[in-house]
Amino acid sequence: MSLKVWKYVLIILILLGIIFLVHNFTIGKNWKTNVVSPPYDNRNWNRSSNLSKSLPTLHHYRTFCPHLGKPSSPEEELEERSLLNSITWPQLPSGLASLNLVQTSDPAHSLFTIETSKIKPSWYVGDQLEVRVQLRDFKGRPKRYGGDLLLAKLHSPKYRAGVAGQVLDHKNGLYSVLFPLLWEGSAKVNIMMVHSSEAIAVLRRLRDYRPDRVYFSSFFRRGNHSERMICNMCLPPDKGPLCNYTDLHTGEPWFCHKPTLLSCETRINHLTGGYTQGIITKKEALLFQSGKNVKVTIHASKTDTINVLPPKKENVSQIQDPVKLATSGYYYQGLWRPLGGFSMHQFNNASAITQCLTNKLVYMYGDSTMRQWFEYLVSVLPNLKKVNLENPKKSGPFMAVDSTHNILVQYRFHGTPVRIQPVLISELRYIANELDGVTGGHNTVVTIGIWAHFATFPVEVYINRLRHIRKAVVRLLDRAPKTLVVVRTANPQALKQKISLYKSDWLTLQQDIVLRTMFKDLNVILVDAWQMVLAHHEPHNLHPSRVIVKTMVDMMLSYICQDGTRNNV
Ligand SMILES: *[C@@H]1O[C@H](CO)[C@@H](O)[C@H](O)[C@H]1NC(C)=O
Ligand SMILES: *[C@@H]1O[C@H](CO)[C@@H](O)[C@H](O)[C@H]1NC(C)=O
Ligand SMILES: *[C@@H]1O[C@H](CO)[C@@H](O)[C@H](O)[C@H]1NC(C)=O
Ligand SMILES: *[C@@H]1O[C@H](CO)[C@@H](O)[C@H](O)[C@H]1NC(C)=O
Ligand SMILES: *[C@@H]1O[C@H](CO)[C@@H](O)[C@H](O)[C@H]1NC(C)=O
Ligand SMILES: *[C@@H]1O[C@H](CO)[C@@H](O)[C@H](O)[C@H]1NC(C)=O
Ligand SMILES: *[C@@H]1O[C@H](CO)[C@@H](O)[C@H](O)[C@H]1NC(C)=O
Repeated sequence: MSLKVWKYVLIILILLGIIFLVHNFTIGKNWKTNVVSPPYDNRNWNRSSNLSKSLPTLHHYRTFCPHLGKPSSPEEELEERSLLNSITWPQLPSGLASLNLVQTSDPAHSLFTIETSKIKPSWYVGDQLEVRVQLRDFKGRPKRYGGDLLLAKLHSPKYRAGVAGQVLDHKNGLYSVLFPLLWEGSAKVNIMMVHSSEAIAVLRRLRDYRPDRVYFSSFFRRGNHSERMICNMCLPPDKGPLCNYTDLHTGEPWFCHKPTLLSCETRINHLTGGYTQGIITKKEALLFQSGKNVKVTIHASKTDTINVLPPKKENVSQIQDPVKLATSGYYYQGLWRPLGGFSMHQFNNASAITQCLTNKLVYMYGDSTMRQWFEYLVSVLPNLKKVNLENPKKSGPFMAVDSTHNILVQYRFHGTPVRIQPVLISELRYIANELDGVTGGHNTVVTIGIWAHFATFPVEVYINRLRHIRKAVVRLLDRAPKTLVVVRTANPQALKQKISLYKSDWLTLQQDIVLRTMFKDLNVILVDAWQMVLAHHEPHNLHPSRVIVKTMVDMMLSYICQDGTRNNV
């Protein structure tokens, strides 16, 4: 083997060692395997600990755009390595280069089994349910390695109840799924294979090496002459001169190919360019078949239903259950009930919402999933009038005012990268820069939801963006500590064949873990869109249905108006 190959082997070995060490470190003795759901409880992660100093640098392995998302200080570099380490995903065993579809994970041949114990034959509220999943290939042979993405929920249609499960990868084709049992009555397990491990290997390659698989464009115009050019966060330097639109404030990179006749200053807008075709082989395309191996339900070997009995007299609340800690909440009677002591209120009519928002400034920043919050408020509050009606329906920016109650709600899309209809350059702004313009205070609410447009870039790009936003949030909270900052997490979505290559749940899950970790130690509220969508009976959707949007907005409102305290300050 050449020196180069040995270098990679060594890096992989070091990585495996560190993965093992970190597992042991963060998960404790009951959790020897990889947690693949967004971990809630990673309090042991320590930015300044010496463990992270020993982590290898991961961003040398990319050939394209090596400068993308590069940290600018040793401290940031440490954090980045630790974040990348926290999202390490099992690799395929080596020597599987020429894999045929029949050897890959097939949800139709795979089965799950509810674990029962002879000592404890019944389930009680407060217990933990364990389900074992055996993945098999298309010939029905058990898989011998892990790395598949499974999503799981336990639900009871009768009580309109549901909770997300925590999936553990045993890396041998077996998975455990753990659910906290939070309500009594009959409950049904639902397990879905989102992608096979083989498909994830393809997604990993695309994520790290093909940030050009979605491209963008801009129109340049002077007088009667206009040109449309390709733009991206990074462009090949050998394909002609570039215009450099790197943001002077944040350093966020952005480039366009220079128009042939016009200057770089004549750029007027930004819009979607297109999707690069031919990024996977025909054989790889077989790994992304709707209804066959993308988001397909796995069946139960015996039953998928259990009956949960009322809690026993023992003091179960004392037990530090890691599954419960990883669960942010659950639905019961159709309502979201957060775990961890926060009591959520329902805002079922306009007067309740208006009362809560009276004298408030609400600034919303982010992608279309954040825009849903704005649209929801405008739709339920008859007195909240949208003022700039002529702005593009998708990108805005929007402002809505209720002058009687002194309410202002604003929405603005985040800066590039954005896959969208034309948006004027003057309206394309980075969230960090916008936050620096917010005065803040006890009457100010800032909501941030940014994830969906970053799935086509290496994770470092997202880390870098969140780092800039986080710094701006810290500055905001320093100058106006009473500002309420709410961060919406990512959510699972419907995945059709082609879409998976550009915005798969696997790509999103990685981002989601990063987002949670990066905002964990700040005085901000996390709205767990991931679990709210996963636990709900509505199908996964990039834009969750209205009832889920209401849940998220109600959560925000509950924090704004906790016992009315914020309104009286
Ligand atoms: C892993 O954890 C166990 C028990 O928590 C401990 O005995 C063992 O030394 C740990 N191993 C490593 C490599 O840290
Ligand atoms: C992080 O590590 C430092 C020493 O490296 C220690 O002083 C500090 O208490 C640790 N913080 C947490 C939260 O464990
Ligand atoms: C971390 O490592 C440095 C040397 O790299 C050492 O001086 C320091 O004492 C270590 N800190 C801890 C908490 O182990
Ligand atoms: C621009 O177009 C208009 C009408 O199409 C024409 O009258 C005008 O002369 C053109 N100007 C230039 C600079 O070509
Ligand atoms: C683009 O501009 C930024 C800021 O002025 C600069 O730091 C960077 O080196 C430039 N990049 C290229 C490729 O010219
Ligand atoms: C049960 O837990 C609660 C709250 O932690 C505590 O106040 C109470 O004393 C406990 N009861 C028993 C019987 O241990
Ligand atoms: C609105 O909701 C609040 C709180 O749920 C309730 O007290 C009030 O009666 C409702 N008002 C109307 C008009 O339904």
